[in-house]
This record gives sequence, C-alpha cells and structure tokens, in this order.
Amino acid sequence: MGKRIGILTSGGDAPGMNAAIRTAVRTALHYDLEPWGIYRGYHGLINGEMEPLTSRAVSGIIQRGGTILKSARSEKFMTPEGRAQAVDMLRQHEIDSLIVIGGDGSFRGALSLQEEGIKVICIPGTIDNDIACTDYSIGFDTAVNNVMDAVNKIRDTASSHERVYLVEVMGRHSGYIALYSGLACGADVILIPEVPYRVEDVCKQIQRAAELGKSFNIIVVAEGVKRIDGSQNSESPALQIGRYIERESGFETRITILGHIQRGGAPTVRDRLLASRLAYHAIELIYQGKGGKMLGEVNQVVKSFDLAYALAQEKQLNLDYYRLSNILASF
Ligand code: F6P
Repeated sequence: MGKRIGILTSGGDAPGMNAAIRTAVRTALHYDLEPWGIYRGYHGLINGEMEPLTSRAVSGIIQRGGTILKSARSEKFMTPEGRAQAVDMLRQHEIDSLIVIGGDGSFRGALSLQEEGIKVICIPGTIDNDIACTDYSIGFDTAVNNVMDAVNKIRDTASSHERVYLVEVMGRHSGYIALYSGLACGADVILIPEVPYRVEDVCKQIQRAAELGKSFNIIVVAEGVKRIDGSQNSESPALQIGRYIERESGFETRITILGHIQRGGAPTVRDRLLASRLAYHAIELIYQGKGGKMLGEVNQVVKSFDLAYALAQEKQLNLDYYRLSNILASF
C-alpha cells in the first residue's frame, strides 16, 4: 500500500458528503493509496479517532444524507495547543495528506494544518453555498429542494385558508437558500441577509399583493436577515415580521421555521455528481503530491485554487435572481 490519506468531514453536515467520502476512498484505492477515515472532524482528529477505510466500508452510502464520518465543531482546534495535537496525531499515524470536506470555517482550520506541513485538499460541503471559487457547494442543491418540497405543501394549506405564510430557512450570512428556493417556489417576498429590509415595506408588499387579487402569500425569510435601521434581537425574524403584518394589516399569518430538516435526506443527483467529481480530483491532486488547494466547480469545470487565495475571496450572490423574483411577485 502507498502513502496514507486522511479524510474528514467538519462543520454542519451536508447531503452528498457520503458520496464524496465513497469516491475519495475508492479513487485512493485505485491509485494504491491508503485512505483513513477521521471521525468527528477536527475534534476526533485531536483525539486520534481514525481508522483505515476499505472499499466495503463505503458501500451503500451514496444515497445517504449526513456523513458516516460524523461531524463536529471543535473549540480546542481553535487553540494553538489543539492544532499542535492534531498535527502530532497525523504524524503518529503517518498521514501526511488530508482531505477536508466542509465549509469555510473548516477550510481555515485546514489552512493552519497546511502551514504545519500537512498537505490539505479542501472540498466545499455546506448547504449554505457561501464558499467562493465554486458555483455550488455539496449539499446546497438538496437543501433547496428540501425547502421547495416543504413550501409546496405549505402552499396547499396557505391557499385553502387564505393566509400569509412566513417560511424561515437557514442562512446566517448568506441568502442563497432563501433566494433560490424562494424564486423556485414563487414566493411573494424573499428576504436575504445581503439586502437589509424594512418591516413596513414587507407589510406594504403584502397589502399590494392583496390588491392585485392574491388571496394568500408566501414570504421566504433567511434566518440571518438584517433590518435597515440595524435594530436586531435574537428572536426569529419570521416571527417578528409575521407579528407585525398581522397587527398592521389584519391578515392572518402563520410561521414555519424549517430548521434542520433542510440539511437531511437523500442527496440529489446534482449533489452526488458534484461530490463524486470533486473527491476524484482531490485524490488526483494528492497523488500528484499537491496540497494547500481548494477544489471548486466553475462553469461545470472542476478547478483547483490556492487555499489561502480562495479564503480571501468573498462569494457573491447573484442579485439578478433577486430582481427577477421582485418582478414576478409584482403582478
Ligand atoms: O452552515 C450550515 C448551517 O446549516 C447554517 O445554515 C445554519 O445557520 C447552521 O449550520 C446551523 O448550525 P447547527 O447545526 O450547529 O445548529
């Protein structure tokens, strides 16, 4: 067997991570490399929770959401001592290359390992799709389809009872989930962190929709939306906006906070293919002796970027989608 490669998943899980693990393991075996699974992200790495993965260990997982390697957020890894222990553990196990599947917090951790001489290759896996240098991250497509399924159901009851429904979706800093699902579901209003809102305007939009003859409304709200005046509290924004609309307009409102249901379920075809292609390229890079890279898919082509460079970029939300949704909702 050739050299050892560690594989870990970190941060919020994302459907398609298993498809990436499966491909990484089998492609590694194809190149006569020895894949090791590291459990519970950086937390498990520090504690030495790792073992070799066989081809059979990744059988029957391509269709499963979540991650067989488990995931965790590690506070200890944020400290220099924690990171030193992680490097020690890798050296003890003779692992000098590492594939990290996760979001930008996980990538920052990976960069610190790269600086200690571990060759890391990062694969974007987060439902938030907030990572630069890739059009999509693993899990996003499944998450927006989960939201779409839920909103389709909510529409049925919203139309029957002629109510205003506010659906709160994930995205503390990024409006991708809200914008894509809102546009795909025909939402009347979409609220995203990138465009601060005024609750009075949202209420007016709903009143105008009623004047246009709409008997029910769907408002999709990202959890991280911000008010224009900067006034913020920790209560769910959908709850606050819904309460305001009901009080000011008299329309009956209902709130659905979708929560972690968005992150679960069988990955879509898109997520499985994206995960498989990125993981395949990750092993190829390792086979070529490379490290300090992030892989992304740009215009359907898999590309590798310098990790430090990728982390310095900001992912831009395509606000054309936002303008389009406003046009569609205004008729
Ligand atoms: O980063 C992915 C994500 O699902 C975010 O959209 C969400 O804000 C957060 O994770 C929730 O984190 P946790 O699972 O720790 O509650």
